[in-house]
Amino acid sequence: MVFHSSRGEFPTTRMRRLRQQAWTRSLACESSLAPSNLIWPLFVLPDEGCEEPIESLPGVFRRSADLLLPQIEQAIQLGIPAIALFPVTPPELKTEDGREAINPNNLVCTTVRKIRDRFADQIGIICDVALDPYTVHGHDGLLRDGQILNDETLEILQQQAIVQARAGCSVIAPSDMMDGRVARIRSSLDQEGFQKTLIMAYSAKYASAFYGPFRDAVGSKKNLAGGDKKTYQMSPANTDEAVHEAALDLREGADIVMVKPGMPYLDIVRRLRSELAVPTAVYQVSGEYAMICAAAERGWLDLDACMMESLLGFRRAGADMILTYFALEAAKTLQMR
Ligand code: PBG
Repeated sequence: MVFHSSRGEFPTTRMRRLRQQAWTRSLACESSLAPSNLIWPLFVLPDEGCEEPIESLPGVFRRSADLLLPQIEQAIQLGIPAIALFPVTPPELKTEDGREAINPNNLVCTTVRKIRDRFADQIGIICDVALDPYTVHGHDGLLRDGQILNDETLEILQQQAIVQARAGCSVIAPSDMMDGRVARIRSSLDQEGFQKTLIMAYSAKYASAFYGPFRDAVGSKKNLAGGDKKTYQMSPANTDEAVHEAALDLREGADIVMVKPGMPYLDIVRRLRSELAVPTAVYQVSGEYAMICAAAERGWLDLDACMMESLLGFRRAGADMILTYFALEAAKTLQMR
């Protein structure tokens, strides 16, 4: 660490010297953002030819697989390395135990196969492991007598990971926050011959109010009926606990750790990156996206500038990769620069 007192003072030192021109600013630039840092979350509808806007996520659509393909093609052309798929499960397929999660022909699996058929390995496909798209109560695990069961949930999560890997998913992303899930998923993937399938663990996933628009998008909000996920997602007050969670996930076999949400948790991104020194992802969640869009719609913020600044902030905090609904727009902006 350089002692600032050993450096010159004004007028010898003038911080503005390096800020004078675009070229000096660019030489002194400490962090950067590229399309290769971005992961694009996509909402998937059943059937064909379906496209629906999401009211609380302006500019984001739910689309059937056939209509997603051209979108994914654009992402590939822009240099976005991976997408994350979230199925919008028809209500009639939701059950108490979320068993649709392990149906090898469920919406997410059939969609993965279609994407793989069309694009082979040109883009990474990330699939969430958690039961909330499939349960009538909207929780990520099995619910009994008002409790979310941990060990019983692991059984179904490991099967969910296997059906997704078999469909051609490249990265399994457990977002359920059950204890021990990464180890169980890793060993069952290995047993089934999927040693190369990556695990991106939602390690520091907070019980956040910023997920609201996402729950609208996948239709889990009314299932959850005002309930919360505080018995398994982390308290927004905690930071050491995030390091502990991420360290455990790494020991259990995670390749990438994630912090979620993003903007209110930049300190956590920085701690994981500095203290664990492993690939770190951050999720700019639905509520963060919605806030920026809503203010921009009112003319209170410049959408493009705030989008780019929020994403660069994640990189400065230490994130290697960013899941963001802005991925396509940001990649287009970067291409024009
Ligand atoms: C589900 C899941 C959630 C998000 C990603 N996976 C919601 C939740 O935990 O209720 C939120 C993403 C977002 O808000 O953009 N396990």
